[in-house]
Amino acid sequence: PAAPTVRLVEVGPRDGLQNERQAIATATKLALIRRLAAAGLKDIEATAFVSPKWVPQMADHAEVMAGLPSAAEFPGVNYPVLTPNLKGFEAALAAGAREVAVFAAASEAFSQKNINCTVAESIARFEPILAAAQTAGVRVRGYISCVLGCPYQGEVAPEAVATIARELLQMGCFEVSLGDTIGIGTPAGVQRLIGTVGEQVPAARLAGHFHDTWGMGVANVAEAWRQGVRVFDSSVAGLGGCPYAKGATGNVATEDLVWLLHGLGESTGVDLEALAACGEWICAELGRPNGSRAGRALRAR
Ligand code: HMG
Ligand code: MG
Repeated sequence: PAAPTVRLVEVGPRDGLQNERQAIATATKLALIRRLAAAGLKDIEATAFVSPKWVPQMADHAEVMAGLPSAAEFPGVNYPVLTPNLKGFEAALAAGAREVAVFAAASEAFSQKNINCTVAESIARFEPILAAAQTAGVRVRGYISCVLGCPYQGEVAPEAVATIARELLQMGCFEVSLGDTIGIGTPAGVQRLIGTVGEQVPAARLAGHFHDTWGMGVANVAEAWRQGVRVFDSSVAGLGGCPYAKGATGNVATEDLVWLLHGLGESTGVDLEALAACGEWICAELGRPNGSRAGRALRAR
């Protein structure tokens, strides 16, 4: 198969599962990760080294890391994990993580709710992570949440996103993923966002992370792609969202992105049939409907 021209970061095991209320067995999470790797995904966000009081579903982070497939089984697969502070980074390192992600927000209100500190404080907390990661030879990705709107403060200026993106790259992040946390953005907003952020940082260092709450996920990816972005985050079957939190839904479905991107002539290295089967399997495990339109269409064939 052709070398991938677009890099897909599968965030299902982390973003897709973190809000799930029912307890999910570690073995199920590991089976999901194996099936995703078998479908050809090379970047699979495995878990989060966050506080189990805040996000109970990720409390088995060390067990997940211990059970990851070997490099012999799936060569060249990265398993990044979230680390909000040095404590999380040290635990991730001890568990064998070779890539981590720090996460900031473009909105003060969201920063407080999500990580209990101001945006400036969060950036200051990342400094020692970046330093320790450099010593340990660990790659650090940066996330920015609420890039197209905030559930608490509403509008978010693209300039605010651009400033944080530049800071994260200057600190040593290899890439910055722009998160439409509540999936409220439209392609017009994406165009403005990438235009403004692109004045400060090269598009080659950006990733798009679109939640699909308002059904704009695929359209937003297509627009970001048109603007030169070639890395996208997604979750198999569109996993994510909390059945009890009104309005929260999952990431754009990986199956839908693969269909879109292959249609645009890009290669992703992903076997869509195998991925769709993985999506059907995890939805059955969780007892939820499949959020991927392409996944459902393939099944109906
Ligand atoms: P805090 O309460 O302000 O932290 O939480 P603290 O330093 O005061 O510590 C309080 C307790 O947490 C202490 O334990 C610490 O040891 C413990 P206690 O003494 O009470 O028993 N603690 C930790 N435990 C495990 N791992 C750690 C850790 N740090 C402290 N790393 C904190 C601050 C950041 C820890 C907390 O707010 C937190 O864990 N937040 C995580 C929130 C989260 O995971 N959100 C979802 C991921 S982000 C996302 O989904 C967006 C994204 O997808 C992009 C997008 O869509 O926009 C990435
Ligand atoms: Mg997210």
